[in-house]
Amino acid sequence: MNKGLFLSVEGIDGSGKTTTIGALDKRLVDEGYRTLLLREPGGTAIGEDVRRILLDPRHADMDPLCELLLFAAARAQLVAGVIRPALAAGMVVICDRFTDSTLAYQGSGRGLDLDMIRRVNRIATGGLLPQRTLLLDLDPELAACRLVGREGAGPDRIDAESRAFAERVRAGYLALAREESDRIVTIAADQPIPIVVDRMQEILREDLP
Ligand code: TMP
Repeated sequence: MNKGLFLSVEGIDGSGKTTTIGALDKRLVDEGYRTLLLREPGGTAIGEDVRRILLDPRHADMDPLCELLLFAAARAQLVAGVIRPALAAGMVVICDRFTDSTLAYQGSGRGLDLDMIRRVNRIATGGLLPQRTLLLDLDPELAACRLVGREGAGPDRIDAESRAFAERVRAGYLALAREESDRIVTIAADQPIPIVVDRMQEILREDLP
């Protein structure tokens, strides 16, 4: 059914996803691919509104289950309204985060049951999974330095979590990459941006039409 290619990029906050995805997208467009760059939570009007609620530091008391379901709600809208139509139109869809973020953050980070999260993810996506996932792996200490350099208005609700939280999220991601080594490829993100983007492009060579 899908003629296009669905890619996701994952990593802890400060791992360089957004910068490298932008550079990767530019290279793919230069090569003639029709791409669509999306972010989660977000990518739709509803999703961006849900994102504001999720990241608002005033909601420090948000229950983990409420958090999980809000991420899932934003994802359901994005999949149905944007990703499926774009794939059907043959586009290369690059998503800055997808279901693995929920397993790593709400599962390994917050401690929610991974099988329950998988069920919720399946409901939100109708079973759609990226064909390839690039995991940018970085030591949380280095990532935190990058975040300090970046923040203008202060950290959002999830950026403000502890270093121990980021360590659990990173370990969760690495465990997922081991379990799903057919789909998830890990890239060392402590290298200069152009090198990381070269590596991303090299991996995608096999997947791109
Ligand atoms: P971003 O800053 O990379 O755009 O992501 C927003 C934050 O939301 C980031 O701290 C990771 C977090 N997040 C989750 O906790 N679970 C999810 O399912 C997703 C998509 C993001």
